[in-house]
Amino acid sequence: VKWRVTVVPETGSTNADLLGSDGPEGTVLVARSQTAGRGRLGRTWISPPGKSLTFSVLLRPGDAIPPARRGWLPLAAGLAVASAVRTVAGVPADLKWPNDVLHDSRKLAGILVEQSPSGAVVIGIGLNVSVSESELPVPGPGALEATSLALAGSGVSADEVLPAVLGGLGARYAALRGGGSVHDEYLSLCATLGRSVRVELPGDRVISGEAIDVDPSGQLLVRSAAGAVESVSAGDVVHLR
Ligand code: BTN
Repeated sequence: VKWRVTVVPETGSTNADLLGSDGPEGTVLVARSQTAGRGRLGRTWISPPGKSLTFSVLLRPGDAIPPARRGWLPLAAGLAVASAVRTVAGVPADLKWPNDVLHDSRKLAGILVEQSPSGAVVIGIGLNVSVSESELPVPGPGALEATSLALAGSGVSADEVLPAVLGGLGARYAALRGGGSVHDEYLSLCATLGRSVRVELPGDRVISGEAIDVDPSGQLLVRSAAGAVESVSAGDVVHLR
């Protein structure tokens, strides 16, 4: 992909903007501030103006990535952010399935992937960069505590992290388009695998067990104490112990 980056001082939600655009693949919209940031599972995403990296990218995978494998795009985005944070900011980061980027079990970045009816895929990334302790959003009930690159000891700016995220996302997107896999890399950076987890599924159902793998469509496989394996395509994972 050739990325074409536009930066705006403020918008409602960069995801909403790109979902409603007919721009080309590779369009990137960075907002210094969002007034109606969206999170996963219908939540909102709040970030203090100018202290986060909030942006979305528009992809048009078409036939190159069949629908059954598109579930890897959110995971590939998580890999791109976690590895950029490691290399550019020097902050040890890992992932909670599907793509919460964690440092020290606290959330550094969130990712929301949405598809338009025309098949466009919008990947939205919100990374806490220079947010201070008192500016961190208060986690909702049961939600993870947040952190930022600054709180993790890094002085990098949003503009320094962005090219690394885009480069890493482009490389992984190219791999998926070419029929390749990011499964092994995902397992290496995902703190969920091998853990005891509780998964809150949409519709209030909860399952628990051990997270054992990610299947060929990117779903999380959870084995219950009784030995039954369930695959999870959407939900909130809580790491236990
Ligand atoms: C989550 O953890 O729930 C996902 C948060 C995603 C936030 C980003 S910020 C840029 C983009 N625009 C949005 O409205 N949301 C995403």
